[in-house]
Amino acid sequence: MSERVAIVMAAGQSTRMNTKLPKVLHEVCGRPMLEYVLDACRTAGVQKVIVVVGYGKDQIMARYADDSDVVFVEQKEQLGTGHAVMCCREHLEGLKGQVLILCGDAPLIRSETLKTLINKHEQEKSRATLATTVMDDPSGYGRIERDSYGNIQGIVEHNDCSEKQLAIQEINPGYFYFDVPILLEALKKITPNNVKNEYYLTDALHITIAEGHKVTAVTAVAPEDAMGVNNRFQLSQASKIMQQRIQERLMENGVTIVDPPNTWIDARAEIGQDTVIEPFTYIHGQVKVGRDCRIGPFAYLREDATLGSDVVLGVFTEIKSSTLGDGVRARHHSYIGNADVRENVNIGAGTITANFDGKNIHHTTIGKDSFVGSGAVLIAPLEISDNSHIKPGTVLLQEDIDSVVGKEAK
Ligand code: UD1
Ligand code: MG
Repeated sequence: MSERVAIVMAAGQSTRMNTKLPKVLHEVCGRPMLEYVLDACRTAGVQKVIVVVGYGKDQIMARYADDSDVVFVEQKEQLGTGHAVMCCREHLEGLKGQVLILCGDAPLIRSETLKTLINKHEQEKSRATLATTVMDDPSGYGRIERDSYGNIQGIVEHNDCSEKQLAIQEINPGYFYFDVPILLEALKKITPNNVKNEYYLTDALHITIAEGHKVTAVTAVAPEDAMGVNNRFQLSQASKIMQQRIQERLMENGVTIVDPPNTWIDARAEIGQDTVIEPFTYIHGQVKVGRDCRIGPFAYLREDATLGSDVVLGVFTEIKSSTLGDGVRARHHSYIGNADVRENVNIGAGTITANFDGKNIHHTTIGKDSFVGSGAVLIAPLEISDNSHIKPGTVLLQEDIDSVVGKEAK
């Protein structure tokens, strides 16, 4: 099989976002937009992804420095999507296979759609294929022009459209698949002859068609997936759609989400079968929740919270960088941070781990089968042995453990 590569365009400054952060690093459900696009490429069998960076390139490159299948190409001036692809020339030269070209600002992309695009290209023996979308409101997108036989003629950018073209509802969501030699030839001929004075990638299609090569357009992208995020409102819309997908996936895996619109779960979270997530629960970061747990209402699980099975967390309970063993109970108003809470520990209402001394973070261990009464302040660093009994209202320091902590009756 020839090497399959992808280009992800992510160099634009994105004036419309009004931001210092590069657009593609803005997060959708806890992950930068770019990551969803990279993942979709990988699942579709892409071995190497060329990311075109420009605005904020150092931040993007630093973030993905460890991804060995990603290479970066700098586009010094953002002269348009066609120019962005031209900057990748040295990585494409000599390749006989195909290149997938995608936008880094379209996180709702699905790998299945990429597979459809690739299959269509192979079936039709096309030299270039694009996936399109039919939208109720196509404003802002490039419109697809077809002839009376349905063959694609080209793409006209919104700003370059005539009245008649503005009415076309089939749009370009930015999913291209080109035979590399054909693309390289077409790129040589693109000119910035349009309203924005930019080199448009979409012109590479016109050129390929004009040269008599077979170009296919397949209507394969669901309207909701096509959204390119160009401003903060679209970012919130993309996040909402992604949140629904995350929750649907969890529900398919046997998780009950009592009130989906009032629950927020990070894309990276893993939740076990028969766990119930009560309303107003917020799960942010790489959180793991085991089976048969009951979380919330109003629970807040943060980065690196790892819960075993049969854990019950109630109202206003916040967990961060902690491991909770099977059967742990913390039903009301608790903060557990940087702690290892072993099996069957009961944490009373209002108990907190005081993990920060103003300079450093410290760790707490609570041994299994221990009982921590209400309103305890556990001042880290702290090692509490198994079967301990801590009276309500205790302010506990390590040095006082022997005098203050009792043992649970067996
Ligand atoms: C582009 C398409 C349009 C399509 C829409 C889908 C062109 C000419 N237009 O328009 O047909 O409907 O996407 O969302 O291709 N970028 C660079 N370098 C540049 C310019 C852009 O890397 O010089 C990157 C941006 O960072 C972004 C992507 O390319 O990730 C798309 O650019 P954007 O400015 O958002 O294009 P649209 O106007 O949305
Ligand atoms: Mg865009």
